[in-house]
Amino acid sequence: MASQRKFVVGGNWKMNGDKQSIDGIIAFLNKGPLNDDTDIIVAPPAVYLDYVRKGLSPKVAVSAQNCYKELKGAFTGDISVTMIKDVGATWVIIGHSERRHVFGESDELIGDKVKTALDNGLSVMACVGEKLEEREAGKTNEVVFRQIKAVADKISDWSHVVIAYEPVWAIGTGKTASPEQAQEVHKHLREWLSKNVSPTIAQATRIQYGGSVTAANCKELAKKPDIDGFLVGGASLKPDFIQIINARK
Ligand code: 13P
Repeated sequence: MASQRKFVVGGNWKMNGDKQSIDGIIAFLNKGPLNDDTDIIVAPPAVYLDYVRKGLSPKVAVSAQNCYKELKGAFTGDISVTMIKDVGATWVIIGHSERRHVFGESDELIGDKVKTALDNGLSVMACVGEKLEEREAGKTNEVVFRQIKAVADKISDWSHVVIAYEPVWAIGTGKTASPEQAQEVHKHLREWLSKNVSPTIAQATRIQYGGSVTAANCKELAKKPDIDGFLVGGASLKPDFIQIINARK
């Protein structure tokens, strides 16, 4: 049976778009139809957060793709939780694999950012996921447990946290994890939460799957008991995203 937790679908636009293409995305989102039983979030590039929030239906929450661990100061090029909130965004993605592997962010920094975001009133999509060589070496659990521990150690209130499992080998590659592969890791993450945080929090916390989710594969993934939503990259830029939002319908 599919999970009883409220479905949550995020669109991570990454470093894509301009005002013209964003107007197109806002138009298809505002047209919908959007399933009321689903939390919907889009994460535009930081410079467009304000623009998107102003144009978008209040049914869709806006997220930053990243933030820094400090609230202000001499951190050239970065943005703070306070700034994200100031423009009306309510979420932030932290620990995305591109932040980890392109920009070299450590587990420790990611944990600190999660703490700052939660302590200052943002909701967080915290990402974990193994690389292909780690999976092939049988280290998937070891990697995702290490990553989730670094985040969990900094969380006291889990009510504004969603975990995103995004296997690095599935991101932007067209190689989606099979529903069984994704379910297996989601189940292990939930067991980890049950053992190391609490059974109640493990049951309540939503775990999204991310990595080449499309309109064609979302329904099968959404049937799995521990898959509570998606974090979508490429397909969130296209009207197909509406079908992914409504995968449970
Ligand atoms: P794709 O859906 O493009 O594979 O990206 C997934 C992702 O990284 C979402 O954060």
